[in-house]
Amino acid sequence: MPTPAELFNIAGKIAVVTGGLGQLGRQFVLTLADSGARVAVFDSRVDEDVVAARFGERRHDPALLFCRVNVTDRASLEAGLRQVQETWGTPHILINNAALDSPPNAPATENGPFETYPESSLDAVLAVNLKGVVLCCQVIGGAMAAAGRGSIINISSIYGLVSPDQRIYAYRAAAGAPFFKPVAYAISKSGLLNLTRYLATYWASRGVRVNTLTFGGVFNHQDEAFLQGYCARVPLGRMAREDEYNGAILFLASEASSYMTGANLVIDGGWTAW
Ligand SMILES: NC(=O)c1ccc[n+]([C@@H]2O[C@H](COP(=O)([O-])OP(=O)(O)OC[C@H]3O[C@@H](n4cnc5c(N)ncnc54)[C@H](O)[C@@H]3O)[C@@H](O)[C@H]2O)c1
Repeated sequence: MPTPAELFNIAGKIAVVTGGLGQLGRQFVLTLADSGARVAVFDSRVDEDVVAARFGERRHDPALLFCRVNVTDRASLEAGLRQVQETWGTPHILINNAALDSPPNAPATENGPFETYPESSLDAVLAVNLKGVVLCCQVIGGAMAAAGRGSIINISSIYGLVSPDQRIYAYRAAAGAPFFKPVAYAISKSGLLNLTRYLATYWASRGVRVNTLTFGGVFNHQDEAFLQGYCARVPLGRMAREDEYNGAILFLASEASSYMTGANLVIDGGWTAW
């Protein structure tokens, strides 16, 4: 029987974290690296300034590799994978974390009524959040399956499990235009649930486990009116701290979850419990 320390041991493993420069991605990168893994950050924003701003001196850590990769572009992913394989070898862990909530330069209609939600926004969000994850699974997951081992973690949201509660955004309407949390993010995140089940069964005999990790909202200095509405809706009465998902990442990345595949682990302060 493995000791508790052995259960969670990922020393020497190779991981890819997409969107690793973001609020949560950075947490996952450091958690994996601090546990002895070598971690490739696949992010479309990789350049010297952004990496320095997000990782400081830690950017020189030889256990970290920063690759400018666009997850919507298969050739870009293949180039990123080649870089990882030439540096360390084939990844054991893939965290599909990159996502758009609302696309940059969103038109004013972005948060308007469902009936007029722009097709261009729908395309942009689905391209990163859903097609991007499929492509990452094809390219990186495919290499993991060929190597006969691996763990894939697809990052979803409570808004992929239940509808956004539009009432907590109603305060914005009082300030002017009506505001609705858009449909694209919600349907992209629910798509991941069945992608997870599809690939878990498809790759079960090849040693690759695939699971979804579903998060509730993370505190990021949101405005007071939003915080009040959101927190009143959460049984634990608060948003998550950005470090509160790291334990689940380590669990799913390691042998501690060796009998878990095709599943969804929900960490949401109780949001979906009522
Ligand atoms: N923050 C929350 O409250 C929250 C809640 C639930 C779920 N989530 C999920 O957690 C994950 C991380 O969220 P976050 O808040 O840290 O996001 P974030 O916006 O801080 O980071 C996302 C990262 O993805 C990168 N990215 C975007 N498009 C890309 C592309 N085409 N190719 C490569 N990289 C790309 C961005 O550059 C950015 O660094 C997301 O999947 C999100 O849906 C977040």
